[in-house]
Amino acid sequence: MKNFILTGASRGVGLEICKQILAEGNSVIAISRKSSPQLEELINKYDEKVQFISYDFEDISSVKDKIFKPLNDNNTIIHGFINNAAIAYEDLISNINLDSLIKMTNVNQISPMLLCKYVIRNMILHNTKGSIVHISSISAHTGFKGLSMYAATKGALEIFSNNLAREWGSLGIRSNCVAAGFMETEMTSVMSDEHKQKIYNRSSLKKATEISSVAATVRFLLNDESSSITGQVINVDSGMI
Ligand SMILES: NC(=O)c1ccc[n+]([C@@H]2O[C@H](COP(=O)([O-])OP(=O)(O)OC[C@H]3O[C@@H](n4cnc5c(N)ncnc54)[C@H](OP(=O)(O)O)[C@@H]3O)[C@@H](O)[C@H]2O)c1
Repeated sequence: MKNFILTGASRGVGLEICKQILAEGNSVIAISRKSSPQLEELINKYDEKVQFISYDFEDISSVKDKIFKPLNDNNTIIHGFINNAAIAYEDLISNINLDSLIKMTNVNQISPMLLCKYVIRNMILHNTKGSIVHISSISAHTGFKGLSMYAATKGALEIFSNNLAREWGSLGIRSNCVAAGFMETEMTSVMSDEHKQKIYNRSSLKKATEISSVAATVRFLLNDESSSITGQVINVDSGMI
């Protein structure tokens, strides 16, 4: 049984990744600000295989004490980390709200870097050939009006991941990104159907990206079948580019 840390596990893509990892018999340390009825169902079904930790990644100061200290005190071996939690502050750059930008940067970019620090330290300590998967966005590659700041956080994550792969590859630690296309989740629920259809029409399949397809790609990158894949960005986006 392997232990995976998963951020943003309460809904959307994170919840589906959580379901797929548990169905394979592995265990999840699930982190988000709040739990959800769907995550509670998984906790009831899988019992001690799901551990929920409430944490707000806008505040980076307690990542070590609130997340990693309890895990290290229990001698938990971390086999993988899925960096999925994110927020999308959507606006034109001419309207920039600094508070919103700083919050998003903390959640999407700074917290993941800090989490990787402690995840990789745990992997080194236990000599684990672990796998790290970051959820990026196709917006970092294609460009969408209003998403420049969000896309920049995802682009930074991709570069970070490529360099992590170089830094830690000699220890067998891998780092990859999944660049997802637009999906039907709470993150995109504010968009009108017309706007969504316009975006979907830019893809080859002319439809939303399936959450299950993104989650299955993450699962593949976490397990040993992908042992020679590192430093890559895999697009799961209905064929956007
Ligand atoms: N939806 C799309 O079209 C799309 C497209 C490309 C890429 N993505 C990426 O896919 C990933 C998942 O997105 P999604 O659509 O599933 O989003 P979502 O439905 O909004 O879920 C976001 C998850 O992150 C958690 N989260 C948000 N802010 C947090 C914070 N400050 N601290 C801790 N946890 C926080 C949320 O839980 P709480 O609110 O309880 O904290 C929730 O579990 C993200 O990285 C996103 O950028 C999404």
